[in-house]
Amino acid sequence: MVAAGPISNWDVEKVRRDFPVLAQSVNGKPLVYLDNAASSQVPQCVIDRTSKYLAEEHSNIHRGVHYLSQHATTAYEAAREKVKRFINAPDVKECIFVRGTTEGINLVAYSYGKRFIEPGDEILVSQMEHHSNIIPWQQVARERGAWVTMIPMNERGEILIDEYENLLNERTKMVAVAHVSNALGTVNPIKEMIATAHKFGVPVCVDAAQSVPHFPVDVQDLDADFYVFSGHKMFGPTGSGVVYGKREWLDKMPPYQTGGGMIRSVSFEGTTFAPIPEKFEAGTPAIAAGIGLGAAIDYINSIDFEAAAAYEHELLEYATERLAGIPGVKVIGTAAKKASVLSFTVEDVHPHDIGTILDQQGIAVRAGHHCAQPVMQFFDVPATARASFAFYNTREEVDKLADAVQKVIEVFA
Ligand SMILES: Cc1ncc(COP(=O)(O)O)c(C=O)c1O
Repeated sequence: MVAAGPISNWDVEKVRRDFPVLAQSVNGKPLVYLDNAASSQVPQCVIDRTSKYLAEEHSNIHRGVHYLSQHATTAYEAAREKVKRFINAPDVKECIFVRGTTEGINLVAYSYGKRFIEPGDEILVSQMEHHSNIIPWQQVARERGAWVTMIPMNERGEILIDEYENLLNERTKMVAVAHVSNALGTVNPIKEMIATAHKFGVPVCVDAAQSVPHFPVDVQDLDADFYVFSGHKMFGPTGSGVVYGKREWLDKMPPYQTGGGMIRSVSFEGTTFAPIPEKFEAGTPAIAAGIGLGAAIDYINSIDFEAAAAYEHELLEYATERLAGIPGVKVIGTAAKKASVLSFTVEDVHPHDIGTILDQQGIAVRAGHHCAQPVMQFFDVPATARASFAFYNTREEVDKLADAVQKVIEVFA
């Protein structure tokens, strides 16, 4: 078993105090929040920053000449600058604000597809993708007369890299792959996968929804063409998210949505578009959410994120050992490299029943297909229960989870 006690430089109790929601009880028991892959909790500083904006600074941004508009614009654009530094993007203009990963991948798929995908072309999508990184590509393929081909995985939930390399060919126009699988926790070797795709001149769209909350990321080091994530999974507000895209692609791609804020000039003879990022940001954005995302990045920068990642990993290993040690429990997703996610089934018990019984103990986990039905089909299960961790979870919470799962087995025995 993994050594007891916190890792040397991670004070989990101190961090927990930053997240007010964690202090409450649910069903008469202290809340054990293990649904971080669905949405993480929000620290007080993000709540305060968002409230301050709404209470004192709110106005529509860009183009306003008055004080509040300029003030709000400065705050919003400062948040974009924080995003740039957070992922080490070369240029702040390559960071487009969206409402979340789903909207971001749809933006990339439709806009890239319209410009670059031709009949007979192929899009490679890994078997472990969230539906948000499958369906937009299927729809675009249908519209463009192209097709989607699955990159298969093995029984541990790891992409078959040899098969991936064999699938790449001169008709491949995009590779869509998650950095971290939300259903299995697998950390994919995306740096290597990107390098391989680039040998064929193929860009890669990385679904980063589950990576940015868990370890530092450098899009230049990865050489990612598109890197897409949601604010609400990284301690920020819902309604915030980012598409990082290389300028060489974004400049050539048409707008995804059109309207106010994204034009250079409009007449009934025709319209010309603003440069990036405005070209992809039609309409009034989620200003409070964007500023809140900036505050979430400030928060992550204020902690030792490397130590947080190491702590979380230790927690995941401990939880895996505890649950895998219970007869009747099967861990789904046993890749050599994993982050945050522990999917499991209990023999003869439906995952929804697991979720309900755990909830009675104050333990929040997710039960279902996790918007990854191809993963469920591969493992031949209708659904799994999923505990997903953040750096504010504790070993005591893991123990409570394991005890509660044991109780589930007793109830159904
Ligand atoms: C890997 C992955 N991709 C995409 C999404 C969709 O994110 P959102 O609902 O924030 O758009 C999720 C959400 O669970 C996810 O885990």
